[in-house]
Amino acid sequence: MSDPNDLAAFLAQAWQHLSRGVADRRAPARYPTFATVGPDGTPQSRTVALRGASPSAGTLEVHTDIVTDKVTALRHTPVAALHVWIPRSDLQIRVTAQVEILTGDAVQSQWNQIPAGSRVSYGTLPDPGTPIDHVYAFEKPAERSRFAVLACTVTALDLVHLGEQHRRAGYSRADGFAGRWLAP
Ligand SMILES: Cc1cc2nc3c(=O)[nH]c(=O)nc-3n(C[C@H](O)[C@H](O)[C@H](O)COP(=O)(O)O)c2cc1C
Repeated sequence: MSDPNDLAAFLAQAWQHLSRGVADRRAPARYPTFATVGPDGTPQSRTVALRGASPSAGTLEVHTDIVTDKVTALRHTPVAALHVWIPRSDLQIRVTAQVEILTGDAVQSQWNQIPAGSRVSYGTLPDPGTPIDHVYAFEKPAERSRFAVLACTVTALDLVHLGEQHRRAGYSRADGFAGRWLAP
């Protein structure tokens, strides 16, 4: 086993899981909980699919529909918390990120890569969250103009590993993610 006292290795392990989530739909990090702060200060959380992860840049990517509540929340408070629990590794990953909402020409390349069957996730009528008269009283046209990329610049990570002795570490962009051990 690798040195348990190695902060960089602990961080690398977390990024490995995040990257695997992008590549493998069965990996636990595929579907993080994505939390935002609503305009009235209420916390909101929902499942999303992780679409991009760059350990070197410290960025993550999520795709969404521009009219969803999470986008409204991010326009007020452009900060998100992402949470993943990796059961087999007994690892909790918590991420705080600054979020930029990208649309239009800036997201053309991502849109091009989305299969036709998945594009219907962007454009639901009426808008997601609208009350409807019947359980299936909605349509799902693929609407390019509703597609948004949430470009997440990671500002901090908090990792907890449950072992014989628990390990917890915090990392911040402010010091280049050098990290420090925290009491678990
Ligand atoms: C497994 C799973 C994956 C999901 N992936 C996404 C996603 O990648 N992007 C997204 O906007 N919503 C995704 N959703 C739907 C959200 O959880 C949520 O219901 C929807 O985005 C509306 O959220 P909001 O009103 O809080 O913005 C997913 C739901 C599930 C159950």
